[in-house]
Amino acid sequence: MTRLIRWLEKQKIPLDSSVLDIGTGNGVLLVELAKSGYTNLTGVDYCLSAVELSKSIVGKEGLPHIKFQVEDILNPSEELSGFQVCIDKGTFDAISLNPDNAAEKRKQYVKSLHKILRPGGFFLITSCNWTREELSSEFKEGFRFVEELPTPTFCFGGRTGSSVTALVFQHTT
Ligand SMILES: C[S@@+](CC[C@H](N)C(=O)[O-])C[C@H]1O[C@@H](n2cnc3c(N)ncnc32)[C@H](O)[C@@H]1O
Repeated sequence: MTRLIRWLEKQKIPLDSSVLDIGTGNGVLLVELAKSGYTNLTGVDYCLSAVELSKSIVGKEGLPHIKFQVEDILNPSEELSGFQVCIDKGTFDAISLNPDNAAEKRKQYVKSLHKILRPGGFFLITSCNWTREELSSEFKEGFRFVEELPTPTFCFGGRTGSSVTALVFQHTT
């Protein structure tokens, strides 16, 4: 989370930019973004109890301006559009593990994202399943790779690797 927020700050993404957290879970990323000064924050999750939990957490944190709604990112409502920044931490991974035609669901995710993010907008994805090369291939239609964010590395058998990939893409028309 810290690295994502640092990247947004380094790029001087305005604090009032519309930011969408896809598959927000308990909404903790948006809480941290709000504490860093971001004011136009929305979280979506297809799980009603996740949305209810997030709402109760932001209420307790005194951050009621963070919006949450139930949405299936594979079939988003029309009102979900025009975001300047979309963030995914673990949701594309979860969709990728769906036993029912995951390849088709990944394609649908890319299509939905392209619709939701405005042209020129940034997409920040953190994955524990996919390498940089694999993600770059998944998001090659309608997006350009911008950069890889540093993640912790480990050494095993004389080789160095990372268990997490964090990438930034930009929406192209
Ligand atoms: C691994 S959790 C990550 C939660 C959160 N982003 C985090 O970093 O803690 C994946 C989340 O994606 C949500 N999710 C999975 N498929 C979804 C879909 N099609 N539409 C919306 N949310 C989805 C799940 O309900 C879950 O909250």
